[in-house]
Amino acid sequence: MTGLLLVGGKGTRLRPLTYTRPKALVPLVNRPLLWYLLELLRRHGVGQAVLAVAHEHEQIEAYVASGGKGMGVTCVREEEALGTAGAIKNAAEQLGATFFVLNGDQVMDLDLGAMLEAHRKKGAVVTIAVRRVADPSQYGLVRREPDGRVLEFLEKQEQPPPDASEINAGAYVMERAVLEEIPAGEVWSSEYDLFPRLLRSGAPVYAYAQQGEWAWFDVGSAERYLAATRQLLEGRTSFELPESQAPRGWELRAPAVVDGSAEIGPDAEIGPYAVVGPGCRVGAGAKVFEAAVWEGAQVGAKAVVRGAVVGCGARIGADVTVGEGTVLSDLSRIEAWKDD
Ligand code: GTP
Repeated sequence: MTGLLLVGGKGTRLRPLTYTRPKALVPLVNRPLLWYLLELLRRHGVGQAVLAVAHEHEQIEAYVASGGKGMGVTCVREEEALGTAGAIKNAAEQLGATFFVLNGDQVMDLDLGAMLEAHRKKGAVVTIAVRRVADPSQYGLVRREPDGRVLEFLEKQEQPPPDASEINAGAYVMERAVLEEIPAGEVWSSEYDLFPRLLRSGAPVYAYAQQGEWAWFDVGSAERYLAATRQLLEGRTSFELPESQAPRGWELRAPAVVDGSAEIGPDAEIGPYAVVGPGCRVGAGAKVFEAAVWEGAQVGAKAVVRGAVVGCGARIGADVTVGEGTVLSDLSRIEAWKDD
């Protein structure tokens, strides 16, 4: 089996962090987001991953070329981003008779094997993973029969109708025949173009609702990024956390992960819900909580970082407070202003 990962979007909601990197390489608890998707495929015995790349493709290609993914990984590039369905058509040569397609901006514990089995049992051309979330208004909704047959797609509704409370979780099993429906070289969306077209033609499109609790979260915006960080740190997924440095002279308030190469000053407090990346420096008495501090960033003595994302190499001066909802781009600098 092959798993196609859609990783070519611009990630506009995660700007400024995605000005300098593709969303798929955003570090999430000190691992690139893409790692979680490759790991999911690998665990379910998918031997080949195909990455549909466009925006900032060079960085993803370099990540793949660095090896150590435990499976075959190839990249297929779009000269111009072709949308979520155009990207699938563009990768046609790499895809077999039946394949998985996953949006590249999410972390999930979806049982791909069970979904494939359900897809085959129903004789579906497309099976879409669906789930319930607390606030479905920001997502595409799926209205379906009790047996799973999809009746309608409703994109982002302020007031979701009661019979369409499940969202499209951005994970599909597809039959190759579906590619015939996508025009070559055109910008086409799965959600707006392909799936509605399949429904109009009466093609068997089914929803797959995994039983029980299962972790799923998207990392589309900074707010969701921090919520995802929190859920990973709380151990709500099956993904193991990377090793954390043991505190010496500073305090780690669990859950938190501090990379072994970070330098933490005396009496600093890290956590709860904090991640400190490789090569970071956190000064004496600083506090970092509910926040992610990316590789090479510096937090000055007695500074406070709370509810924020601090980009790679950013520098926060001594005594500065960086509050809730702040997103600092890579290499940015914030210093306390001191009049002489
Ligand atoms: P926003 O601009 O913040 O909405 O993010 P996005 O560009 O990633 O768009 P969206 O969240 O709708 O995309 C869902 C998934 O599809 C993401 O993993 C994107 O990387 C991917 N994607 C979106 N558009 C394209 C495209 O044109 N080509 C490819 N290869 N992937 C795409």
